[in-house]
Amino acid sequence: MAKLVRPTSRYKASYLSALREFHREGRYTYHDLDELDGDFEAHVADERKRIHPENIAVYRVPETIYWLVDGDEFIGRLELRHELNDHLLEVGGHIGYSIRPGRRREGYGTTILELALQKACECGMQRVLLTCDPDNVASRKIIEKNGGEFENRVDVVRDGMEYHKLRFWIDVESQLSGRESCRA
Ligand SMILES: CC(C)(COP(=O)(O)OP(=O)(O)OC[C@H]1O[C@@H](n2cnc3c(N)ncnc32)[C@H](O)[C@@H]1OP(=O)(O)O)[C@@H](O)C(=O)NCCC(=O)NCCS
Repeated sequence: MAKLVRPTSRYKASYLSALREFHREGRYTYHDLDELDGDFEAHVADERKRIHPENIAVYRVPETIYWLVDGDEFIGRLELRHELNDHLLEVGGHIGYSIRPGRRREGYGTTILELALQKACECGMQRVLLTCDPDNVASRKIIEKNGGEFENRVDVVRDGMEYHKLRFWIDVESQLSGRESCRA
């Protein structure tokens, strides 16, 4: 069964093969596979930091990284940001996720957000903001299946970067209601 775990070197081989898949679609290319292979512990340590280095320039808020795993396989990555700054309120949101290309369209995207809401609840977050690109049909479906209420579309330029985003809010407690208390 799929679950969220904090980054650990237990999944090194699977993580590296997932990264190869991500690289083929141009994602996470700032990670050098040989470097990570040589010192995976350092990468795990970065992933476990409260403010993840790759986000420092843009976000500057505390966040927690989780990995979605199923058995011994690394399936995907989740970023749970604990607060919003102006940039996140407008375009980034509280939660980001990606599923390795080789395991898409199997429901893992829907699962990772469902499990993210559980984590958000454990952190005392009552409402979370999710955003996605207007043409990201899969992500929009995932958000709506997890109770996302569409607020608006934003089209903005920030620091020379153009952003086009659909913004959704999820009421964490009502989405999880009927399940075991998340603060148990
Ligand atoms: C978006 C992403 C997380 C989806 O992951 P996934 O594991 O394929 O998602 P699911 O299997 O739960 O699919 C959710 C829904 O989207 C649909 N879907 C998945 N990929 C799709 C695609 N490429 N085009 C159209 N629909 C798609 C599924 O059929 C499913 O629809 P259903 O609920 O009607 O059955 C994955 O494609 C990904 O990691 N993309 C790159 C990163 C990204 O875009 N992250 C989201 C940022 S907001």
